[in-house]
Amino acid sequence: MSLHILGTGSYVPPLVVTNDDLSKYVDTNDEWIVSRTGIHQRHISVDETATDMAAKAAFAALENSGVKAEELDLILCATVSGDNLCPNLACMVQATIGATCPAFDLSGACSAFLFLLETAAAYLSTGRYHKILCVGSEQMSRILDWNDRSTCILFGDGAAGVVVEQGEDYLGSQLMVRGGDEVLKVPTPIGNSPFTKLEPTHPYVYMNGSETYKFATRTVPAQIQQLLEKTGVEQEQVDWVICHQANRRIIEAAARRLKGIPLEKFLMNIDEYGNTSAASIPLLLDECNRKGILKRGDLIVLAAFGGGLSCVATLIRW
Ligand code: COA
Repeated sequence: MSLHILGTGSYVPPLVVTNDDLSKYVDTNDEWIVSRTGIHQRHISVDETATDMAAKAAFAALENSGVKAEELDLILCATVSGDNLCPNLACMVQATIGATCPAFDLSGACSAFLFLLETAAAYLSTGRYHKILCVGSEQMSRILDWNDRSTCILFGDGAAGVVVEQGEDYLGSQLMVRGGDEVLKVPTPIGNSPFTKLEPTHPYVYMNGSETYKFATRTVPAQIQQLLEKTGVEQEQVDWVICHQANRRIIEAAARRLKGIPLEKFLMNIDEYGNTSAASIPLLLDECNRKGILKRGDLIVLAAFGGGLSCVATLIRW
């Protein structure tokens, strides 16, 4: 597999919604949210869609990479909260940034960004494409039930991505899926067909929190361990872990199981953004890139989990 990250970019909407702000809408409080999740605030869209945010993140990633939109030969995007089912987000990004290349979406919920990287790396190794833009963008506020305190406090809006080219920095990946929709789902509306006998859906995020928690705390460290074993890398050699930002306690539990990787190596920004689903990993990657935290040659484990259920761990060299 072939991949080198040329640059990163991200965008979050300006409105910051604190836990205290949320307590005006649902029966919750700052102490409960911070102690259970580590989330202090999230950015929420007022008038920007997943497409608007994705395009801004794409422009930032192109600028950071020194690549022009017309030089891209593929755009890969992911969202569970896009403006339309058709056209997909990647087509909308292509039009907005002025690119002319093929563009398509992959669907993978909170693991989606790592499915995008896997796909990009496979295409780059064949030589079929040379410069690929990968963007995850979410307007989660659009698909949350704002009367459900167990889910609406967890998520935030935002977009982020990378521009990649051929290179030797994709060291391995470990993908698993335990298919089913009992634990986590976002149903689509059933429509108004006069012929349907389907039950009407509740087209918002549904999550069994404790089952999701159990899945993540068991699977994420197991996948990372298997990834490191198959790539021949010791836990002690890992410089950073960028884990999907869903819950600080999940990340702490994963760190406890990976005895050779101390918690300080698990980078986090969940306090500021909450769970931004497909944007979560590239948002943190971009923040660390721009702050100069990541040094050339660093070994970074990227780890994601989400609806599917799925769990992906990827090892890259920075
Ligand atoms: N504010 C205050 N109380 C709340 C609340 C909120 N926002 N949400 C739920 N509660 C209440 C529940 O109603 C419950 O009350 P009860 O005991 O009277 O019924 C109580 O808090 C405990 O709820 P519980 O679900 O046991 O809390 P928890 O410690 O398991 O934490 C989550 C809940 C959602 C934070 C936790 O399960 C979690 O993080 N799960 C994984 C979520 C995740 O990663 N999602 C993303 C997947 S990509």
